[in-house]
Amino acid sequence: MIELKDISVTFHQPDRQINAVKDVNLTIDKGDIYGIVGFSGAGKSTLVRVINLLQRPTSGEVIIKGENITNLKGKDLRRKRQSIGMIFQHFNLMASRTIFDNVDFSLKYSGKSKQERKEKVTELLELVGLSDKHDAYPSQLSGGQKQRVAIARALVNDPEILLCDEATSALDPKTTLQILSLLKELNKRLNLTIVLITHEMQVVKEICNKVAVMENGEIVEKGDSVTLFSQAEKELTQTFIRTASHIDQALETILNSKSFIDSSNDVWLIELSYIGSQTNEALISQLYSRFQVSANILYGNVEIIQDVPLGSLVVSLSGDIDKRQEAVAYLIAEGVKITIVKADEPVEVEGVNHYARVN
Ligand SMILES: Nc1ncnc2c1ncn2[C@@H]1O[C@H](COP(=O)(O)OP(=O)(O)OP(=O)(O)O)[C@@H](O)[C@H]1O
Ligand SMILES: [Mg+2]
Repeated sequence: MIELKDISVTFHQPDRQINAVKDVNLTIDKGDIYGIVGFSGAGKSTLVRVINLLQRPTSGEVIIKGENITNLKGKDLRRKRQSIGMIFQHFNLMASRTIFDNVDFSLKYSGKSKQERKEKVTELLELVGLSDKHDAYPSQLSGGQKQRVAIARALVNDPEILLCDEATSALDPKTTLQILSLLKELNKRLNLTIVLITHEMQVVKEICNKVAVMENGEIVEKGDSVTLFSQAEKELTQTFIRTASHIDQALETILNSKSFIDSSNDVWLIELSYIGSQTNEALISQLYSRFQVSANILYGNVEIIQDVPLGSLVVSLSGDIDKRQEAVAYLIAEGVKITIVKADEPVEVEGVNHYARVN
């Protein structure tokens, strides 16, 4: 559906040049909900604006449905752009026009009759759940409702692609979930391909089947969401994921808690991550029956990414030291990823990771 080939965007300023996007290659398939994640200034908006040529690339090619559109101009470009809708963080509605007119406005040059336009706008407002707001003004709507209007407006020309630039960043968590579920529904119902920029991994987790992580204009890691969430290789990706799962906060709380400090002699604190239906409970109870190692669960979290459960557990292990080593080796052999958070002696088991404390 979308192919970006060797895309670079350079901005020239009087005193310096900014390489906002560097040599990006990205393929987005029809029906994907593709997340683009990165900190502020990473180049996400610039990259996504290249897709509809709101931003012309300095070099590289933009291919939409097999057609190279990089050099399109004027009428041809406008026609092509109609197949690509876009929504933003700040909705960009016209304050002096009703909701109906805000959506209708984008049909002005569509060649449709007044009646056809009315039917189209009515249908779209119903699709986004705002049938009762035709005559309201933007100032009378909540943030979530305004974003629904913006979505309806972006869909007037039946686009096949919807670009979302931080579309939920101005919304509270509950409204964010509602808008995300609307986007998911539109993706399913209209077979809409969605490209979604965000700085929150939480958003990606909710709806994206694929994700690319950007830093300094480059894509540092990309792939399908389950693979990325379960085996991210790059530190930046891991930072995003760990922030979203609150695991680092949990570890810090445990490490600083008095009851843990008082009882932490002779125990190892470890983190287990596992994917799929491997049940932690069964494994944990095996540790005692096989190795006489007791595992005390201090924190647990399961994320469901694209219907696949990804679990994290923080447990303290106590028992004979040699047996603890064997227990850890056993868990690794069972496909569990093990990170040693705290141990008073070196844990020499092949494949373990060591936790780097966040300050
Ligand atoms: N029109 C422009 N002229 C000059 N520099 C620009 C322009 N647009 C963006 N930049 C610069 O390019 C870099 C990438 O900006 P971009 O807006 O793509 O980042 P972003 O990842 O979307 O950030 P945010 O999360 O804050 O929206 C930044 O350093 C920015 O200052
Ligand atoms: Mg941006």
